[in-house]
Amino acid sequence: MRGGGNGQEPIVQIEGVTKAFGNNEVLRGVNLTLYPGETLVLLGGSGSGKSVLLGILIGLLQAGGGRVMLSDMEVTAFRTEEEWKAIWRSVGFLFQGAALFDSMSVRDNIAFPLEIHTDLSRAAIDDKVSRLLAMVGLGDIQQKMPSELSGGMQKRVALARTIALEPRIVLYDEPTTGLDPITSDTIAELIRELQKRLGITSLVVTHDIRLAFRVADRVSMLYQGKIVITGPLEEIRNHQDPRVREFLYG
Ligand SMILES: Nc1ncnc2c1ncn2[C@@H]1O[C@H](COP(=O)(O)OP(=O)(O)OP(=O)(O)O)[C@@H](O)[C@H]1O
Ligand SMILES: [Mg+2]
Repeated sequence: MRGGGNGQEPIVQIEGVTKAFGNNEVLRGVNLTLYPGETLVLLGGSGSGKSVLLGILIGLLQAGGGRVMLSDMEVTAFRTEEEWKAIWRSVGFLFQGAALFDSMSVRDNIAFPLEIHTDLSRAAIDDKVSRLLAMVGLGDIQQKMPSELSGGMQKRVALARTIALEPRIVLYDEPTTGLDPITSDTIAELIRELQKRLGITSLVVTHDIRLAFRVADRVSMLYQGKIVITGPLEEIRNHQDPRVREFLYG
């Protein structure tokens, strides 16, 4: 297997991670490595355990076994929220569905992580919210409520909130679900731009092949609880494995 690393140290290392719910063995020994600055797309059918894996990476779920290293920290050994706090600062998570706080304005949604994790003044936060909105291609909509926005705009606001703390790693769970192809393409461009401008390392979980082809440096496929294939985008495009061909070309 060719790495995406060019000899760099991994920024995320997932080793033999397992997770079962009762007798439903969802993850059966997942191995996956991310290198700084790359975008890795994780493909897998519905119910294959992609969201569960992201949940383990961010501490929402506890792994049954195995190990996850984020930089040099073994997060699977964490037991308290205190330990996770530093991780939540440096790892952004874009939830499946925009998951904005419905009763809060756009401004308050984006300001939320800044208010919790920083001691920036109100004016500095307002300024930062404006810049984040501009970065995701939205104008002066601070005072709008989420229900007043289209699905694509909500996704962009959620993305602005995700990157507010300038994370080194962003985990995207189905960032384009429910969006039309044109709006999806703008999300793809944003993911690329964040990689270029901020050097963000991304793990993108998706069914959306169009998105995968637009953003991936490398692609992995989760199948029956394991990563069965990993490779550079070009290699995956032309892969002869029937599981890959079925997934990509139906
Ligand atoms: N909290 C939970 N309790 C019990 N079972 C769960 C829980 N979370 C997930 N599962 C089960 O784990 C399996 C994987 O779910 P997961 O949400 O990770 O799938 P997914 O690959 O993200 O699917 P989709 O593409 O539809 O989002 C499913 O069988 C699901 O029912
Ligand atoms: Mg999911």
